[in-house]
Amino acid sequence: MGNSESVNYLVKIDEVQVERIQKLHHIIKSCFNNTNYSAPISQNLKRGAEVLDIGSGPGTWIFDMSSDYPKSKFTGIEIKSSILPAILPFNTRFIHHNVLNGLPFYPNSFDYIFIRGMVLCFTESQYEQVIKESIDLLKPNGYLELCEGEVNFHNMGPISRRIIYSMGKLLRSKSMNPLICNRLHEFLAKHKLRQIQQEEVMIPLSPLNGKIGELNGLNAYYAFYGMKDVLAKHMRLSKSEMERLIEGFLDETRTYQMYCKYTRVYGKKIVT
Ligand SMILES: C[S@@+](CC[C@H](N)C(=O)[O-])C[C@H]1O[C@@H](n2cnc3c(N)ncnc32)[C@H](O)[C@@H]1O
Repeated sequence: MGNSESVNYLVKIDEVQVERIQKLHHIIKSCFNNTNYSAPISQNLKRGAEVLDIGSGPGTWIFDMSSDYPKSKFTGIEIKSSILPAILPFNTRFIHHNVLNGLPFYPNSFDYIFIRGMVLCFTESQYEQVIKESIDLLKPNGYLELCEGEVNFHNMGPISRRIIYSMGKLLRSKSMNPLICNRLHEFLAKHKLRQIQQEEVMIPLSPLNGKIGELNGLNAYYAFYGMKDVLAKHMRLSKSEMERLIEGFLDETRTYQMYCKYTRVYGKKIVT
């Protein structure tokens, strides 16, 4: 597989999507008690650690972390050149690379590796392969942490159910797993990480549940827009029918108190 920038990512990246990804960072952070990670690594980060973020997007997580931990060094790796940040904090670097071609680092290079929001980018076996390669890059006692949301909402109305059901089918037809967040701990255990811990939060999608619900509902709405061509084709709808459905989803967020689940899971590399 080459460095083609369209590899598997189901959301078409444009300025709206970049802003959406940046906002989602703040939504997720605030729902995990205003924290950027779950692994017990704050002392390492304060002292100075080597950190890798795989599929770093516009670098929002790295920007936030690099200002909290100025003694640590942060590397982002990202396939889409147009999304790479242009102005970089002094303790960061970004590499333009398709991680499905292998991770271009030496073994034992990183104290902490973070992967978030790749459910619409990797097949299940690609996800597992990236996990396996990431573990090789960890130093002894290093941590790998993954964060994903379920591509499934709870308490859906009929239109939301139709979209989510079709998305699930579309993902499965491409060997992607809409519920991969529930399997990540298995992959960490299979590839010999220890002290595996998981944290889950339910994030509202409705303005009836406050500001976060309103922002997250809008985030899902824009994500559906970013996938509208591929979804319309899969659902055999015209573009305008698809758009009406997506508008219908936004209407439902105002009447149904929908939620989605996010999971953060981490494990430690113990070398015996
Ligand atoms: C949903 S965004 C998540 C961004 C970031 N991790 C976050 O949580 O804010 C997924 C990112 O992964 C990138 N990506 C997808 N496939 C990739 C690959 N094979 N190699 C490197 N980056 C990839 C996409 O271009 C996109 O920027």
